[in-house]
Amino acid sequence: METLLLRGDHKDEVARAGEILRAGGLVAIPTETVYGLAANALDPAAVRKIYEAKGRPSDNPLIVHIEEVSQLGPLALEIPESAQKLAKAFWPGPLTMILKKSRLVPALVSGGLETVAVRLPAHPVARAVIRSAGVPLAAPSANLSGRPSPTKFSHVREDLSGRVDALLDGGDCTVGVESTVITLAEGVPRVLRPGGVTVEQLRQVLGRVEVDSAVLHRLEEGKKAASPGMKYRHYSPKAEVVLVDASSEEYVNYVNSQEDCHALCFQEDLPLLRVPALSYGGRYNREEQARKLFSALLQLDGLGAKKVFARCPSKRGVGLAVYNRLIRAAGFQVIRVGSPLLVGLTGPSGAGKSTVGREFQKLGWGYLDCDKLTRSPQVYDEACLRELAQAFGGDVVAEGMLNRKLLADRAFATPEGRELLNQITFPRILRRVREEIQAEADRQIVLLDAPTLFESGLDRMCRRVISVDAPREVRAARIIKRDGLSREQAALRLSAQPEGEFYLSRADYVIENSRESSLSGQIQEIFRELQGED
Ligand code: TXA
Ligand code: MG
Repeated sequence: METLLLRGDHKDEVARAGEILRAGGLVAIPTETVYGLAANALDPAAVRKIYEAKGRPSDNPLIVHIEEVSQLGPLALEIPESAQKLAKAFWPGPLTMILKKSRLVPALVSGGLETVAVRLPAHPVARAVIRSAGVPLAAPSANLSGRPSPTKFSHVREDLSGRVDALLDGGDCTVGVESTVITLAEGVPRVLRPGGVTVEQLRQVLGRVEVDSAVLHRLEEGKKAASPGMKYRHYSPKAEVVLVDASSEEYVNYVNSQEDCHALCFQEDLPLLRVPALSYGGRYNREEQARKLFSALLQLDGLGAKKVFARCPSKRGVGLAVYNRLIRAAGFQVIRVGSPLLVGLTGPSGAGKSTVGREFQKLGWGYLDCDKLTRSPQVYDEACLRELAQAFGGDVVAEGMLNRKLLADRAFATPEGRELLNQITFPRILRRVREEIQAEADRQIVLLDAPTLFESGLDRMCRRVISVDAPREVRAARIIKRDGLSREQAALRLSAQPEGEFYLSRADYVIENSRESSLSGQIQEIFRELQGED
């Protein structure tokens, strides 16, 4: 079959795509998540061709793409209030809702189920095509079944040239993982596939939202999949992928000790790896990880990789979607290296880190207080004092004793001073921390309580990070009481620290420690999860 190549930035070529679709043909179209392979959703003969072109099992239902919310009504038997709320909050965008289907939806689209999946994409070209076709479009990802989803036009050309009527070029996809699929068809809303809209965002709109167990775990033998797509082999590059659940240090050490392998790592790992490596984004840039993952998997095939050790992403935010795709690409092969499992505990002043730390201690975890270690005499040995005197003036050390007040005054006066102080003390603090961890080696899990976990580089040693958070007024009130500060002093101290978002975007878990929230419930949940992992 000859495949027409069309350009999304040419109006007449988009119109041509619309005509082909209306006439029952297949066109690959760009969306903000991944490219989709579209056909008229109301035409069973056209839809059948999608399954053939992709080599997709016919019991795996398709998502119906619409251009206006008003197109939802005819497709669904009923529209619950939750659907209205979600449409208002996240459409157009990377969210697919599953509702009871109307008779308008062909059985082939719904894979024989009584439900239909609907999405209103945000990509302007996707919307223009749907408008031009004048019908809702059924569209799975535009890859051959089992392969990573296409996020670039070149990926689509590779998989589908010669198999469909036309390919519409809309450039690179900005989200990079598929839409979040949530079912509203029964009971409590439940995420069947994590994606561009996060579980945290959904909970903000709906309150209670569950996550289907198949999101994180292999489907048990003989169990029926709520979303048929979850039972098939997925996102598989040609290489064997193994997920390595480790801290930055543990990951680099482990991979460097392996032979004949490639690394699929975070940006920060690249300069430290001695095996051929490819990054799928910055460690704390989960949106970038989502955007680059599929493309990186395909690139590894291009490099002829046989075995790939992939760095395990965080499961928070859009990280959950990245994890969900990677663990499938890895066929659920995960290895954990290093012990004890070191968990960083951080957050702004007054959030209540120590309270949280004590609770975990009661449950049996080890606990290291970095502030205390930082002040320990072993850090400020003779050589250290000499360097400090050289950098900040001889009088900061009087008779072999450090004048902490004077040192702080001088070092914190300028950013350069602070930087210099860190250069002198951080390596020594790190050494102290390592010694203390050695002493806790018989523990399964050890908490590392460090207010400046990220700034100090201690996060490189942690496999997980918990951030404790509380509203700013609550934090201010706490430090006023605890440290005897005035309102102004408290405000000044809090302003000198990074904003809450800094911690939230980096943490794997966030504990909300305001007056109203229940601490023990949150702690129990994290405890159970981490305990279960080892
Ligand atoms: O971002 C996306 O959602 C992309 C773009 C093209 O829109 N599309 C996409 O489609 O990822 P696909 O077919 O690759 O994945 C659809 C997923 C499958 O896991 C399928 O099993 C599930 O949604 N699904 C579709 N209809 C369903 C239904 N009625 N009940 C449960 N799961 C359903
Ligand atoms: Mg797919």
